[in-house]
Amino acid sequence: MDSASGDSSLKIEFSPAARRVDGARLAEIHANPGFGLHFTDHMFVAEWTPEKGWHEARVTEYAPIPMDPATAVLHYAQEIFEGMKAYRHGDGSVWTFRPEENGARMVRSARRLALPELPVEDFVASVDALIRVDEHWVPESAGEKSLYVRPFMFASEKFLGVRPARHVTYMVIASPAGAYFAKGVHPVSIWLSEDYTRAGVGGMGAAKTGGNYASSLVAQQEATENGCDQVVFLDAVERRWVEELGGMNLYFVHDDGSIVTPELSGTILEGITRSSIIELCRQQGWKIEERKVSVDEWREGVASGRITEVFACGTAAVVTPVGTLKWRGGEVGSGEVTGPVTKQVRQALVDIQYGRAEDTFGWMHRVV
Ligand SMILES: Cc1ncc(COP(=O)(O)O)c(C=O)c1O
Repeated sequence: MDSASGDSSLKIEFSPAARRVDGARLAEIHANPGFGLHFTDHMFVAEWTPEKGWHEARVTEYAPIPMDPATAVLHYAQEIFEGMKAYRHGDGSVWTFRPEENGARMVRSARRLALPELPVEDFVASVDALIRVDEHWVPESAGEKSLYVRPFMFASEKFLGVRPARHVTYMVIASPAGAYFAKGVHPVSIWLSEDYTRAGVGGMGAAKTGGNYASSLVAQQEATENGCDQVVFLDAVERRWVEELGGMNLYFVHDDGSIVTPELSGTILEGITRSSIIELCRQQGWKIEERKVSVDEWREGVASGRITEVFACGTAAVVTPVGTLKWRGGEVGSGEVTGPVTKQVRQALVDIQYGRAEDTFGWMHRVV
């Protein structure tokens, strides 16, 4: 199989899986996919060495990967990943949302983690190749189901030493995902992390790398212990400026109509949903601001009514209303109501993703 996507020159071999899920089992999985539990029949794999560059690109049977105990990633976490979705439209076609943005972000993550860059066109070709082979795994469009796609790259060299690996593996796997909110969109509660930060200036906060998520787990645990769904991090220097949730960016809607999101400080992930919302709001003629937002502005704004809605955004949940902000000794919040701006932004995005609204931005990329 040659890559048929855009300008990629990556030569992709195809060896069909000997074992494939049968129709009855796939129907069962599609009826109740959950998230990240079931994986398609195939996976994409490519290798990199300084001598050969990217080579041995292949779509092959989904299977465990044998690893030497001294494989570098297991020790020094030289690893990056991406998260995106394939959507089936009403006419049966399959599309991804701004895949070149995921590819560009993976290049930026690779630079920060001293990993080799995978050209954006090869990234898109790899995702397309896997989705095309496992197309029947993309759920029907009803109910906001999708195929979650996880490209990732890691130091696969067998070597116990702290230096960039000289053998790197890039893979793509995919997993059917149900609607994030099985019982409809409802507001989440957020725990303010005061003891832990996620990223420092000059650190890896803007890269999508496993270490950032590992460091967020104890704070997420604290959130759960305090009855909250998600955790929000503040900046590591002043412990004052709102950064982002463990896996989502934040937006604040003000009573004067302005919509504010924390600026890209180098310590937060540049979410593709976040940047798409900026463009959508501009198109609607809404006033959008990227600036610093302090946790006091959040607390006082919600309490006084100056902030009328808070929502989080990311590929998994698209747009999630935030009901409550809780910290040690207090909370503010609007409870169970999803605000009108949050609803409208969410609807506008999912309608484009599922092909129910015209894609005036040219964001959708047809795969099948
Ligand atoms: C830490 C973090 N922030 C923000 C986001 C949202 O990014 P995106 O909209 O590209 O999914 C994610 C999700 O990938 C994330 O993990």
